[in-house]
Amino acid sequence: MCGIIGYSGHRVAVPLIMEGLRRLEYRGYDSAGVAYIMDDRLHVVRAPGKLIELDTKLASMNVGGAVSGIGHTRWATHGLPNEKNAHPHRDAAGHLALAHNGIVENFQTLRCMLQGEGASFVSDTDTESLAHLLAKGLQEHAGDMLKALAWTLNQVDGSFALAIVRLEEPGVIYGARRHSPLVLGVGEGENFIASDIPAFLPYTRNVVFLDSDEIVRIDANSWGVWEAATLAPVHKTPQRISWDVQAAQKGGYKHFMLKEIFEQPRVVADCLAGRLDATHQRVCLEELAGMPVPKRLHVLACGTSYHAGLWGMHLFEDWARIPVSVEIASEFRYRNVLLDEDDAVLIISQSGETADSLACLQLVKSMGVPVIGLCNVVGSSIARESDRVVYTQAGPEISVASTKAMCSQLTLLTLMALHWGQEKGTLREADRIACIEALRQLPALLDDHLPAMREKARELSRLYADARSFLFLGRGHCCPLALEGALKLKEISYIHAEGYAAGEMKHGPIALIDPHFPTFALALDDALFPKVKSNLQEVQARNGEIIALTNEGMDLQVEHPWIIPRVWGPLGAFMALPALQLFAYETADYLGKDVDQPRNLAKSVTVE
Ligand code: F6R
Repeated sequence: MCGIIGYSGHRVAVPLIMEGLRRLEYRGYDSAGVAYIMDDRLHVVRAPGKLIELDTKLASMNVGGAVSGIGHTRWATHGLPNEKNAHPHRDAAGHLALAHNGIVENFQTLRCMLQGEGASFVSDTDTESLAHLLAKGLQEHAGDMLKALAWTLNQVDGSFALAIVRLEEPGVIYGARRHSPLVLGVGEGENFIASDIPAFLPYTRNVVFLDSDEIVRIDANSWGVWEAATLAPVHKTPQRISWDVQAAQKGGYKHFMLKEIFEQPRVVADCLAGRLDATHQRVCLEELAGMPVPKRLHVLACGTSYHAGLWGMHLFEDWARIPVSVEIASEFRYRNVLLDEDDAVLIISQSGETADSLACLQLVKSMGVPVIGLCNVVGSSIARESDRVVYTQAGPEISVASTKAMCSQLTLLTLMALHWGQEKGTLREADRIACIEALRQLPALLDDHLPAMREKARELSRLYADARSFLFLGRGHCCPLALEGALKLKEISYIHAEGYAAGEMKHGPIALIDPHFPTFALALDDALFPKVKSNLQEVQARNGEIIALTNEGMDLQVEHPWIIPRVWGPLGAFMALPALQLFAYETADYLGKDVDQPRNLAKSVTVE
């Protein structure tokens, strides 16, 4: 997830673009850059780090003569967050510059093809291939930018929002989108394109929402939209937006947490991008290519990432027949651990900076055991120090309570288990195909069901917001979800909640059950359903009230059955997780808590 902006109009472009980038910084902040035309030259200025670094660089430059340009604030997906990988990227002749948000899935193929034709690449990014490809397109279409752009996009697999500036057309900015967001701001004597409305909100409230596979062209006094496939003009009418900047950054949602819960369909799609081989129904995880399948896997993490690891254990064991241990990093680091050389350690961390997880990494490396990092933040400490790194593609998570990051971790853990299952030949072909098919359908399924889930969560939160304690129960692969449901509820609503393996309940916690101590159960359609059902009957025998996430047609009598769509095998977790998140969210919001920044917590725990 990155932020892009393009401007053409009567104001000095670069300061305006920088101001727009500042309002998009929530989309990514590891490097930034601008491109503009001045004195018949295309200038590109880029800097690693936060926007202030780019500001400092620009302060010593005279940028007063540019009336159009593009800008980018980056959330790295391919290549470290350094200057050479920062956007905008240029073609070899330096005649065009391009800023990109998204993932070019076939960039390796494009890069090889273009290198074979003599193009030399200067960055590690997927984006640079687009700049070279577009330059080639311009050559083949006699400099006709619309045709060249349509030709280029036709060869790209993946997602993109683009902003492009070109020496031959000063004052003109082109844009295009597929899946990644791009909006057009229509002003007076000025026009804008951007990833998100806040970028230009101080200048115009008239917005055109571009659809996938559309191309846009703006100059100071006109704008036009075309279908990328046919170049047929598309008629669009600007809409008037009434949000303030803060509301706009949250995409109109009340909190970042809610926005991030609703981003999960896109997160799953981005995590899968380029990692599924459609023809052979196989997983391609380049990050693990050539690595021997570990004899034993030790998963280390904290908090929500630890819960993701517990869930992943079931998949590694089932599909790849790898013995797995999952441990809290702060405990592992002080044990006198026994590891073998052919073991591997998997460290899961959204931030990549959690002190205990990083300490485990360093300990394990000193013992000569290979470490795989599963991280969201490119270039973070854990990502840099791991022997292999697998990146999730959740984009920046702003809310302190982790939601979409866990969803991205579950997606990558699924892919890793499929990958090792394929490698070892332990995964049944029918299961692999069914799982890949279910993964493909997840984004649309989530998209369809999230609004209704929110309604149900809201209704239930009103009934139980005065509870003093909650018990979350699950078994098998649903047990880690029960732990996560309890963690989410307690951290943002401050209602005490305990997550427990349902079968373990009668060994102690059952003593707590009474009519004022509600239970939230996961009773999905899986092999352990009959066992969970008996455990819930034990709760009912003590007059405990139950909310149960379950599937259509299951034989379960509880006060509040919450039916979620059935999904193949353990992937039911992808439907249960947002329900748990939304229940916690709606409860905390109803109680008036500071949802995005709960007391006593920090997004990245860099102290022991
Ligand atoms: C809970 C939450 C934390 C983090 C934990 C690990 O909502 O966000 O429990 O999961 O602090 O953080 P990372 O994954 O960054 O190592």
